[in-house]
Amino acid sequence: MPDTPIRRSKPTPIPPVAQSAKEKTLPLRINGEDYFHDGDADMPLLWYLRDVLRLTGTKFGCGIGACGACTVLIDGKAQRACITPVSAASGHDITTIEGLAGAELHPVQQAWIEEDVTQCGYCQAGQILAAVDLLKRTPHPNDVDIGKISNLCRCGTYPRIRNAIKRAAELMQEAKK
Ligand code: FES
Ligand code: FES
Repeated sequence: MPDTPIRRSKPTPIPPVAQSAKEKTLPLRINGEDYFHDGDADMPLLWYLRDVLRLTGTKFGCGIGACGACTVLIDGKAQRACITPVSAASGHDITTIEGLAGAELHPVQQAWIEEDVTQCGYCQAGQILAAVDLLKRTPHPNDVDIGKISNLCRCGTYPRIRNAIKRAAELMQEAKK
């Protein structure tokens, strides 16, 4: 029996997806670079950083704003990226751990190394950014001030974090001289 020719129909072009009310182009300034997010304005900033930009230094822990693993700086203030929609971050300056150092390490990073803070490391980007925010608001923090940082560390590095924040305060003071 002769082969029946296969009839191929022309592919039907996929119609463009209409933008819903929740989808719009949002400008984002992250670590000094400009980006534009086309999509769901309610997407958590953490997803955008990790899944779109591959800035994986910002970690996913609890996803409900409790642990601080996802801490970033928004206009210099420590914020939980897992509960911050991209729409709320749009128009603000966002700094992740990847953008903290300039030509040299930030004094908080330097102090973290000197005090050998890190164990598994999972919480540490968030801890460092929370410390940067604290030191900006309170240049000479005491234990009570430091204790107000609510970021969690399952490895229990709290005593070393405390020492490192005090050391960073010294380094920042010395840099001003
Ligand atoms: S992952 Fe955001 S606070 Fe825990
Ligand atoms: S260093 Fe392991 S969770 Fe903090």
